[in-house]
Amino acid sequence: MKKIRPVLKTYVEIHGNVIALVFRTLLLFCSRKNGKNQMDNSRKMNAPFTPMKPSIRKRVLVTGGAGFLGSHLCERLLDAGHDLLCVDNFYTGTKDNLLHVLANPHLELMRHDVTFPLYVEVDEIFNLACPASPIHYQFDPVQTTKTSVHGAINMLGLAKRVKANILQASTSEVYGDPEVHPQREDYWGRVNPNGIRACYDEGKRCAETLFFDYRRQHGLNIKVARIFNTYGPRMHPNDGRVVSNFIVQALHDEPITLYGDGSQTRAFCYVDDLIEGLLRLMATPDDFTGPVNLGNPGEFTIKELAEKVIELTGSRSVLSYHPLPSDDPTQRRPDITLARNALGWEPKVHLEEGLRRTIAYFDALLSGKIEG
Ligand SMILES: NC(=O)c1ccc[n+]([C@@H]2O[C@H](COP(=O)([O-])OP(=O)(O)OC[C@H]3O[C@@H](n4cnc5c(N)ncnc54)[C@H](O)[C@@H]3O)[C@@H](O)[C@H]2O)c1
Repeated sequence: MKKIRPVLKTYVEIHGNVIALVFRTLLLFCSRKNGKNQMDNSRKMNAPFTPMKPSIRKRVLVTGGAGFLGSHLCERLLDAGHDLLCVDNFYTGTKDNLLHVLANPHLELMRHDVTFPLYVEVDEIFNLACPASPIHYQFDPVQTTKTSVHGAINMLGLAKRVKANILQASTSEVYGDPEVHPQREDYWGRVNPNGIRACYDEGKRCAETLFFDYRRQHGLNIKVARIFNTYGPRMHPNDGRVVSNFIVQALHDEPITLYGDGSQTRAFCYVDDLIEGLLRLMATPDDFTGPVNLGNPGEFTIKELAEKVIELTGSRSVLSYHPLPSDDPTQRRPDITLARNALGWEPKVHLEEGLRRTIAYFDALLSGKIEG
């Protein structure tokens, strides 16, 4: 019996390992198949993103989650049943943006600055932390560059350590004042490297470089979204961005500030459309990295936008013309062919409808019916 015992032990160990191996392979096969089905679903043009089953609930980190876009993304991820860690230093974001979901037990809100390392266990990272409006990012330009660059290094380091998928909220500003129109992802841009917008533009360009180098050097699963002008409820009322600015001025019957002659064009994407694009991008197969443009290709002059806002608010505001700030791009419009093909995504909310929803939000905010 004494002689048989070690033989039996080895036999059980070998068979145990074989069974564990078979079991793990089966699990991997099932989860890949599930992931593929999700992709097939999400590729259907304009079909809503399919929420995850609780059995494949993920631990998701959103940096900048208390900001305008971040709070909408957090809402969608919680709706889909994920465990969410929202990290923010509340520089431009606020807890008020998350008040309606704070009681959700699957949400954890953490005050943290992404320029410092973060040690948590997550499966996916959406890196949105960075002030996005010129007033805010130019207030402390050195911190803006640090947030983009050190923030990217810290989040990529985290993704590498825990083998998480990571998505970067890049920007159309990487195209600078473009010579080609509309902008495609293979256009390298025309950015002034030492102007007042450079802290943001070059910071985001460097972050993209880091993302692709981490992929080449460490094999990380990265996704890069180049976000074009997005608007909607929970934009900061005093951030100087064109849509919020015009709406707030119109609701106060104040003159609407136009820079230059108002003929410069912009494309405006409603926030719900943008968030759908980010979720679809994160769900793409590992070999799809982007960069991919996410924005609305419908192009309007700034003057047309101002007139539309006056019409929808019924305001008595008049247009007031001011000199153009330096490095203000004259034209901006995304070519979204890649997003259409790879993500099955295109914006659905028309400018007029999006403006109505945003005006309703600012109206409630300014009359004290909601907190912000
Ligand atoms: N809204 C747009 O039109 C647009 C366009 C292009 C790109 N983006 C990008 O999308 C992201 C979100 O933009 P948004 O419009 O929601 O801006 P936002 O200013 O409302 O949100 C940014 C959030 O990041 C937080 N943050 C800033 N610095 C931080 C730091 N060092 N550590 C932790 N948190 C920090 C802020 O407090 C805020 O909550 C940004 O990265 C921005 O560059 C936005």
